[in-house]
Amino acid sequence: MAPKTQKTAQLHLPDGSVHELPVLNGAFQKHALDIRSLYKATGFTAYDPGYTSTASCKSAITYIDGAKGDLYYRGYPVKKLADHNTFLEVAHLLWEGELPEAGGKNPLEEAVRSHSMVHEQLREFFKGFRRDAHPMAILMGTVGALSSFYHEDLNLHNEDDRDLAAIRILAKMPTLAAMAYRYNKGLPFVYPCNELSYVENFVYMMFDMPTQPYKADDVRVKALEKVMILHADHEQNASTSTVRMAASSHADPFGCIAAGVASLWGPAHGGANEAVLRMLAAIQTPENIPIFLEKAKDKADPFKLMGFGHRVYKNYDPRAHVLKEVCHTLLKHLGLAQDPLFKLALELEKVALNDPYFIEKKLYPNVDFYSGLVLQALGIPLNMFTVLFAVARTTGWLAHWKELFDDEDFKIGRPQQLYVGPEARGRDCEESEE
Ligand code: SDX
Repeated sequence: MAPKTQKTAQLHLPDGSVHELPVLNGAFQKHALDIRSLYKATGFTAYDPGYTSTASCKSAITYIDGAKGDLYYRGYPVKKLADHNTFLEVAHLLWEGELPEAGGKNPLEEAVRSHSMVHEQLREFFKGFRRDAHPMAILMGTVGALSSFYHEDLNLHNEDDRDLAAIRILAKMPTLAAMAYRYNKGLPFVYPCNELSYVENFVYMMFDMPTQPYKADDVRVKALEKVMILHADHEQNASTSTVRMAASSHADPFGCIAAGVASLWGPAHGGANEAVLRMLAAIQTPENIPIFLEKAKDKADPFKLMGFGHRVYKNYDPRAHVLKEVCHTLLKHLGLAQDPLFKLALELEKVALNDPYFIEKKLYPNVDFYSGLVLQALGIPLNMFTVLFAVARTTGWLAHWKELFDDEDFKIGRPQQLYVGPEARGRDCEESEE
């Protein structure tokens, strides 16, 4: 899908020259200035740390309307997919551009079943971790280690090889994530069970006991399925951009996903769901909310209100809306509707949304504000929240990984910089040595 170049923009430079920049038109009436010729033609680079105004690529996978608070996967509103589809149907949509045929077989179901086990030798790898290692550290290490099992037979220029690598990663991430959880608990690993759906299997591998076979309850599985669908993709966020950057050098795909896991772990990104629960525990009661809001506004204080704000959403994150509903339904089902942390979160949201600072800076609840409460209600421990986010987001990372190989503009990522260090020095010593 090559965006049409409709007209140009003119850049007037300090020396009086004018540089024409083609305008590229995308969907949803979005436009981009094509600045690829800028440096070569003018010697100027564009300065944009954090890429607040820079499109790093073209993509047809996900679109966010930050002003309206809308999120679409391949054009479908994410709430509709969360309400009506399974996680692997959404994975098929993100990867192939279409939902599987209604009533037909989802090719991903069968493919994942044949690849959900990990090499038996990988179990030894876990023994190198401290028993109390953070499961994100374990996941980062083990998914990267999988490259040592498959690197030899992978030709990145062969689409079938790429598809197989993507399937292997999609299939093995829940297995590795569950193994990380079991290792932390000192429990025996549980092999995947092919009769179960992708999400049921994940829960089964985490909670099954040799002494007491585990049967997941449908309400919990459905709640988890929605959480994972909502976390599946989100345009060029930090971790997805990391995966794309690593992939641009034709790095091993397992290594690219390990890089994505590393980036997602940051508390400013995927680590925020765990940080929200820790923040709510620190706030303890509604009377303490004003103290924490003042801390969040104080520029001298690094504290930010976890689960609030977003680079793109300047409105309510649509995923937070869905997760708030899921949280309420689940807690009611579990007889925890009066859960104090949920009530504190509702109160914190109400106070923050009426606070002039948050209103002026357009800071709304994001996906992480309620997801942690849902995961806690599902009995998933705090240090596994971001692991779950990583398992879900792997689908999106792989969709972008596959997409970049078909992009005619695909190049190795190598940003410019504005150098502000010392200019060439020591010439006088060179001259004196001559
Ligand atoms: C995710 O990119 C994605 O799509 C990410 C994600 C995904 O699905 O992949 O959506 C998942 O990472 C969600 C975000 C989770 N992180 C948090 O909840 C951590 C708390 N949020 C902040 O750290 C912050 O909001 C960010 C990191 C999310 C966004 O940071 P930006 O882009 O720098 O925010 P901004 O430029 O819009 O901020 C505007 C102002 C700034 O103040 P000024 O410099 O204008 O004075 O608002 C302030 C920020 O300091 N601000 C906050 C705040 N978030 C922004 N102040 C207090 N509390 C906050 N939470």
